[in-house]
Order: sequence, then C-alpha cells, then structure tokens
Amino acid sequence: MPHRGPIGVFDSGVGGLSVLREIRRELPQEDLLYVADSRHAPYGDKPADVITERALTVTGFLLEQGAKAVVVACNTATAASAHTLRARFAVPIIAMEPAVKPAVASTRSGVVGVLATSQTLASHRFVQLLGRFNAGAEVLVQPCPGLVERVEAGDLDGEATRALLADYLMPLLEQGADTLVLGCTHYPLLTPLIEDLAGPAVRVVSAGGAVARQVRRRLDESGLLAEAPHPGTASFWTSGVPETVGRLIERLWGERVQVAALPPR
Ligand code: DGL
Repeated sequence: MPHRGPIGVFDSGVGGLSVLREIRRELPQEDLLYVADSRHAPYGDKPADVITERALTVTGFLLEQGAKAVVVACNTATAASAHTLRARFAVPIIAMEPAVKPAVASTRSGVVGVLATSQTLASHRFVQLLGRFNAGAEVLVQPCPGLVERVEAGDLDGEATRALLADYLMPLLEQGADTLVLGCTHYPLLTPLIEDLAGPAVRVVSAGGAVARQVRRRLDESGLLAEAPHPGTASFWTSGVPETVGRLIERLWGERVQVAALPPR
C-alpha cells in the first residue's frame, strides 16, 4: 500500500530538520525518515559530482526503507543533483529553492539579501532562479562559508557563530537590504540570532513552509497521502557519530529519539 509508506528526507547534516519540522506541522499523520549525512558535511564546499553521488546514495537508502517520496531538504544538494535524482528514481522528489520570489514580492526598500552556500550561489539553477524572479528589486548574494560547521557543532547562539553571522549580515544591511532570504536549510536554525543582529525592521524568510505544502500537494496528486489519522513516527540515521549527532537532533527536534548509523557505502 503506497500511502502507508514513509516520507524520506535528507540533508548534509541537521539543517534539514528546519524543513522536517514544517513537514511534521503540515502532515502530522505521516511517518518520516530522516538522514543526516553528517560525515560528508558541509556539502557547500564540495564539487557538484561529489554531492550528486551522496544524494544518489542517500536517496537509494531511503527508498530501501520504503520511502514513497523523497524531500531533498538541502539547497546545495538540490542545485547539484535534483535533476539527476528525478531522472533516476520514479517516486516524487521534492526539492528546495531559496525563497527569492516571496522576498522580492515583499521588500519595501527594494533590496533583498540572499544567504546561502558558495555551491548554491554559483549553481546554474540559482542563476536561473534570479533571472526569473529578481525583476523589481536588487538582489545581493552572500556566501557564508563556515556557518554550516557552526550549526553542526551545536553552536546556535555562541560568540563564534554571532561574529561570523555579523560579518555576513552587515554588508547586506549596509546596502539597504530589508529582507533576508535564508537559502540554506541550516540557517533557519539560527533565526533568533539572525533576527537579533538584523533588528526588527528586517524580514527573514525561508522556504521550509512552502516545501512542506508542496510535499502535501505532490502526495495528494499521486494518491499517496497517509489516510489513517494517527500521529506519524520519525526515524533518524546519520553517517556521522550517532551519539553526537543524536544529541543535537534531540535538541533541535525537541523529543527523545534513536539515531542509527547509516550503513557505510
Ligand atoms: N543545508 C544545506 C543547504 O541547504 C547544505 C549545507 C552544506 O552542507 O553546505 O544548502
């Protein structure tokens, strides 16, 4: 019964939990599988073919666990590999896109800042996205090397993370950005810090909620929505050290969880 299958979700690490939360809110009855590919984080500094190889491996694993759809909860992996995953696998593949469109639609100053990994910003997919949606606003881009590592280390509000973020945010704010797009799924986990540094006049937007609604639409169209109104489960794997990654996942997910080792491949 396909509608009984779980939804598979993955990221280079814990960043995709910012998307998993939204999927849980939108679809509380669905069983969820999550892979944190922590041993290979960050994806953002790696060549596209290496990221695609990881995306194929992790998606293959999720399908072996019975996933009826896979969410690429990572902008970097989307840019590098979404087309390959869709060509290779028959299940719905739902992927990320930095929220440039709603940001351009809502900016008042006419200046939008996009924070993302170097790989995402350099990708053909992102250049195309800008071409489609930047009319009417100046869109500034800011790569953020090192920030994913701060989140993976569990430093969500310490001095090192604050200093790094301040370096990345200040040039955007000085140029008049009143809307910041968080174009990497790790960054919404830093929202309190980002809002604190940017101040109340700046709007912070990310794509997790829109992706969760897209998951609902795609499952509905394919007749794959879970029917039983029972609360869904969540299962977790990591290619990193399960105890360490598990502690961070519990903190971010807000529940006791078992995190298993992803079989090496
Ligand atoms: N969370 C990821 C993203 O949305 C990737 C971060 C990384 O591994 O560099 O881009």
